[in-house]
Amino acid sequence: MIRRFRPYFNYLRPHRGLLSVGILCGIIAGVASGAGLPLMIDRVFPVIFGDKTNPLAPVQPLALTNWQLAVVVLWIPFIFLLRGGATYLNTYFIQLAGTRILEAIRLDFFRKLQVLPLSFFQKNSTGDLLSRGLSDANQLQFTLITVANEIVRSPASLIGSISYIAWKAYHVQGVTFVLVILAVVPLSVLPIRYVGKKLIKRAGQIQAELGGVTNIFSENLSATKEVRAFSLEAREVARFKGSSQTLIRAQMKFMKYEKALTPLIEIISAVGIAFTLLYAYKVNLDQKTFIVLITALYASYEPIKKLGSLNNELKRGLGALERLEAVLQAPVAIVDTPDARPLARAHGALSFENVSFSYQPGELVLNDVSVLIPAGTVCALVGPSGAGKSTFANLVPRFFDPVAGRVTLDGHDLRSLRLADLRRNIAVVSQDPVLFNDTIYHNLLIARPDASRADIESAARAAYAHDFILSFPAGYDTLVGERGARLSGGQKQRLALARAFLRNAPILILDEATSALDSDSEAFIQTALKRLVVGKTVLIIAHRFSTIRDANLIIVFEAGEIAATGTHAHLYAANPLYRSLYDRQSGDSAAL
Ligand SMILES: Nc1ncnc2c1ncn2[C@@H]1O[C@H](COP(=O)(O)OP(=O)(O)O)[C@@H](O)[C@H]1O
Ligand SMILES: [Mg+2]
Repeated sequence: MIRRFRPYFNYLRPHRGLLSVGILCGIIAGVASGAGLPLMIDRVFPVIFGDKTNPLAPVQPLALTNWQLAVVVLWIPFIFLLRGGATYLNTYFIQLAGTRILEAIRLDFFRKLQVLPLSFFQKNSTGDLLSRGLSDANQLQFTLITVANEIVRSPASLIGSISYIAWKAYHVQGVTFVLVILAVVPLSVLPIRYVGKKLIKRAGQIQAELGGVTNIFSENLSATKEVRAFSLEAREVARFKGSSQTLIRAQMKFMKYEKALTPLIEIISAVGIAFTLLYAYKVNLDQKTFIVLITALYASYEPIKKLGSLNNELKRGLGALERLEAVLQAPVAIVDTPDARPLARAHGALSFENVSFSYQPGELVLNDVSVLIPAGTVCALVGPSGAGKSTFANLVPRFFDPVAGRVTLDGHDLRSLRLADLRRNIAVVSQDPVLFNDTIYHNLLIARPDASRADIESAARAAYAHDFILSFPAGYDTLVGERGARLSGGQKQRLALARAFLRNAPILILDEATSALDSDSEAFIQTALKRLVVGKTVLIIAHRFSTIRDANLIIVFEAGEIAATGTHAHLYAANPLYRSLYDRQSGDSAAL
């Protein structure tokens, strides 16, 4: 089982120094408690209470000077000082290394989240990913350091006490006696094996249930408004309670077996002691030797118990490991090929060649789509909701790759271009733009990190955002709140447009980018858009036909296929679907 962890022990490598010091202290602590205690009884007690091995010897303690007595008595604090100091340093250094390792695991996890394809996030919920990145990473770190530590310390302590028993027993009674005493040690491994088997099933389950709880938490926090609007308070609490109880049940099942281990080992060791007693009686063992042996025997159970719980810890870590690996080893489908072609500024000629796409195997969302979009074309995508317009547009920045066919930019397959170069040539404005919890200024700056203050203001002006920004007391330094919560939908969309102005990319994708605008802003934005699209290849998905009418090229989508392409005049005359979509919308506008 430990082999499964091998690649992750690499996380320990940079902290070898810390760990070695920690483990060395652990060995000292282990030996001090394994052999130290019995040794102490062996050395100190006879001096204080006299040597009763020989019944004829005087019971009188040896006569000692105060100084000699002090030295003898100080054995006890000395052993404990050694043991305590070494234990402290051991824990300290191991923890120190542990926090560094946790940091590395978490960072790797977070890094991976940045490059995973979007499809990954549609299959895995936020709460579950949060729980993997936080709680499973924590668990793995704990397992790694516990294992690294105990795997050296406990055997050291065990070897310490067992060698002492063997040595002592051999001197007193010979080999047979040693064997009798040691026979009970392997017995105590039985409960470890039994309990371990029960635990492996439960460990992964706990982490999964924890993911469920986190999931409800994060989903609830992102739907605070819906919970109130639809009076879901009681339902949400019930949902949370249910999930939380499932978690607790899983934890209790784990606990049931885990906590049985120590008593089981102790009972077996008590049986061992009973047998030793029996044997001691038969061979006429003196009490002092017996006590020393029992102490050593008992000291040897401590590391066995530790190794037993180490086994449990490994099981628990394995559960966490599997959940982390599901993410860390998830394939990153969309990456640069080794010979990826660099791309400076694209002209912007797009070509879809027999492109098919499906989110789920077997369900084609785009079916053998072919179309040519020359550089500098303003191209409108229209069609009923769910026809595949957004999916079509999302293939251009390679948010997804086609399952068949290819998309080319300036004649090159998108998959042959450097991903970062490709994406630098594209500005995307979506229906629901997300702002980071930062100032307006910094939210705009992400579109072009080298932009000057003047660039940013002129982009904001072009998007008709400058005035509303200045109406805030802090102006461009206004904090927008989480996901831009302190701004209205229209304001967020104007900031998103300002980002697009700033980015000034040759390809522009506007997916319902004007849908959240009120009719006042709409008029401004239409003017802004006219300016923004000049000289660019534009894919525009809009719900208003006023925007669409002027496009150079209109593509009509129907159920994942291209039903027709052409200009407004052409399509209105030739395509019944287009005509009905157009008429319905103009009718709606007339009714308003
Ligand atoms: N992430 C997704 N996973 C599975 N199916 C999806 C996903 N996104 C969209 N779809 C499905 O793909 C189809 C096309 O969606 P979309 O391209 O968003 O349509 P449109 O933008 O034309 O309204 C719809 O049937 C939708 O249900
Ligand atoms: Mg859409």
